[in-house]
Amino acid sequence: MSFKFNFHIDDKEDIKEDKDISEFDIESKIDELPSKYLEFNVNNKDIILKLENENVNFNQNKSLKKLIKPFKNNENSGDNNNDNNYENLLNKTDLIPGVYEGGFKLWECAIDVINYLIEDNIDLKNKKVLEIGCGHGLPGIFCLLHGSVVTFQDYNQEVIFNLTQPNLIINNSNNDNNNKENSKFISGDWKFVDELLNNEKFDLILTSDTLYNIGSFKKLHNLISNHLETNGKCYLASKTYYFGVGGGIRKFEELANVLNILSIKTVRDIKDGFSNVREVVEITKK
Ligand SMILES: C[S@@+](CC[C@H](N)C(=O)[O-])C[C@H]1O[C@@H](n2cnc3c(N)ncnc32)[C@H](O)[C@@H]1O
Repeated sequence: MSFKFNFHIDDKEDIKEDKDISEFDIESKIDELPSKYLEFNVNNKDIILKLENENVNFNQNKSLKKLIKPFKNNENSGDNNNDNNYENLLNKTDLIPGVYEGGFKLWECAIDVINYLIEDNIDLKNKKVLEIGCGHGLPGIFCLLHGSVVTFQDYNQEVIFNLTQPNLIINNSNNDNNNKENSKFISGDWKFVDELLNNEKFDLILTSDTLYNIGSFKKLHNLISNHLETNGKCYLASKTYYFGVGGGIRKFEELANVLNILSIKTVRDIKDGFSNVREVVEITKK
């Protein structure tokens, strides 16, 4: 896994509506993808089950499977442009803000959040779960396999069709009905996902490696605060600091402190000596 962020954040003029959080109002001048629910069906199941996959290992000898390469020619998309987009996005080596947000790679914080769920024996039975910025979707799949009903969200629909849904199939191949009944899929920008979800609330919200762009912090904060149940928990796994782009957990805490809706508490520090220091934080409503 490589971790580089070679994009820049435009330092356009601040929006002056609130001087305390104006640094989070970075104009991006990029298109924000509208949000929509995506179909899930298992037409391609037999092909998907023959694709090359590998195990991702977690604590306590638990593991999940992931495709080595996203599935191509997924007929589920119902969108003729899907294959072209798939090829375009897959060839991107890095994130392109507003176009491709990195969902085709498995980022290390996804593993951290699953390890946290395992170590703290978080109750997942009959929970309503939202995985924000799911990519491979392993945290959401882990929850689904332990009895949750899960809504998976990614910026790019190609990621959902070509990777998240196939990963769900290879991890729960004998239980198509369970997959269909207990999972929903949403693509698009967090601003519109917030609107699409309307008043829906979740017991558990999971998100990993999603704090790299300060310009998206307010949208992410809104999504969490508007859709977390009063007594719900959000587990967010992130690098403490994203070098070069200025995001990270301390910066997100700054915004949360000003908005004063959410409490953030670090529940894990991960220092493996190989990459940036990472944390898992627990977010609750004040
Ligand atoms: C670096 S990837 C992490 C993927 C996955 N969580 C992991 O840890 O492997 C960031 C994810 O956040 C999502 N994302 C980032 N900015 C977004 C935005 N403004 N609106 C919607 N999704 C966004 C993308 O879908 C992308 O999959």
